[in-house]
Amino acid sequence: MSGDRGAVELEGVTKRFGSMVAVDSMNLLVQPGEFLSLLGPSGCGKTTTLRMLAGFEQPDSGFIRISGQYVQGIPPYKRDVNTVFQHYALFPHMTVAENVAYGLRQKGVSKSEIASKVAEALDMVQMSKLAERKPRQMSGGQQQRVAVARALVNRPSVLLLDEPLGALDRKLREEMQIELKLLQSRLGITFVFVTHDQEEAMSMSDRIAIMLDGHIEQLGDPETVYEHPSSAFVAGFIGRNNFWQGVATEHGIRADDGTIFVASRPEEDVPNELPALSAVRPECINLSAEQPADMANVASGVVAGVSHFGDVLQYVVTSGQRDLLVLTPRAHAARFAMGDNVYCSWSPDDVYLFSARQADIVMADSENLES
Ligand SMILES: Nc1ncnc2c1ncn2[C@@H]1O[C@H](COP(=O)(O)OP(=O)(O)O)[C@@H](O)[C@H]1O
Ligand SMILES: [Mg+2]
Repeated sequence: MSGDRGAVELEGVTKRFGSMVAVDSMNLLVQPGEFLSLLGPSGCGKTTTLRMLAGFEQPDSGFIRISGQYVQGIPPYKRDVNTVFQHYALFPHMTVAENVAYGLRQKGVSKSEIASKVAEALDMVQMSKLAERKPRQMSGGQQQRVAVARALVNRPSVLLLDEPLGALDRKLREEMQIELKLLQSRLGITFVFVTHDQEEAMSMSDRIAIMLDGHIEQLGDPETVYEHPSSAFVAGFIGRNNFWQGVATEHGIRADDGTIFVASRPEEDVPNELPALSAVRPECINLSAEQPADMANVASGVVAGVSHFGDVLQYVVTSGQRDLLVLTPRAHAARFAMGDNVYCSWSPDDVYLFSARQADIVMADSENLES
């Protein structure tokens, strides 16, 4: 069984709350030592999935194996996992060291063993110096480090983390992302990490499971889900995209305004004349003052916004009824200003084509509003 240590397996796992299906016959195999993120919008079933792994909820059907062991009926404290929540839930009247020691004390571990394990856990998260502090004397980031130490002190093979950095401000969150990732690779522990923040998932994970309505839309490494989104939903959720709604044609899509766009990478097989969405990433759109002669896809418009993001410039170009988002490297020769007439053009090789499901259309509409 030692080869399975740290593996997490879900097989047809379903969880209902009344008539609502929170997790819908989910299958997933997390490899030992892997950093896997469950990523998706609020309400898609991430927390419910994690709580079933932890043992706080029981599946209505399906099986879960952790470290090779079926865990049905096994209470949380007997599973080879531990959980870190968004709200650190430290005991306020206890010191850092007492908080970390709590679980071991409950188990009747000897005093000397507790002392050495607590010291080791605090060292892992660089909190040894603050061992005698109370939670209220520490920042949010420090408290979350203590929560991680507390979860690691009995050395589970799998750590479950539910939006652990969600309450921290941006700079601290980015620092903690790097620290947590380092800690995970040093310890070789499996992390199942829940987040709704796609940048966080992209920067930390070995693989990402993108969830929608209780199921996994796509499972893959960050590059694959960015480069080859398997649905319009994934294309909109990972990174940013400009979407066109319309119907599929032989060569691409006829947008609702009649414009025909050519796509050479249909990610889904969409029959002609059926509702379809095409998508092009903002960094794949070229801007020019003159109409490009040889581009298959061209839309004229007016620059409605310019933002500077260090190494890139972001333009919003109003074209007909909609706004296009365009990102260009700062070093790009041509610069444009508000009110300039411009041509947006892009290659068929950069256009994804998807069938349009209801959820995708809602998402594409909201993308258009945001951009
Ligand atoms: N204890 C519960 N009782 C009833 N409905 C719940 C309960 N927990 C979660 N749900 C519902 O299940 C769905 C999935 O919730 P959750 O797993 O918390 O999503 P996420 O963590 O992705 O935001 C949501 O529609 C939520 O309202
Ligand atoms: Mg949640």
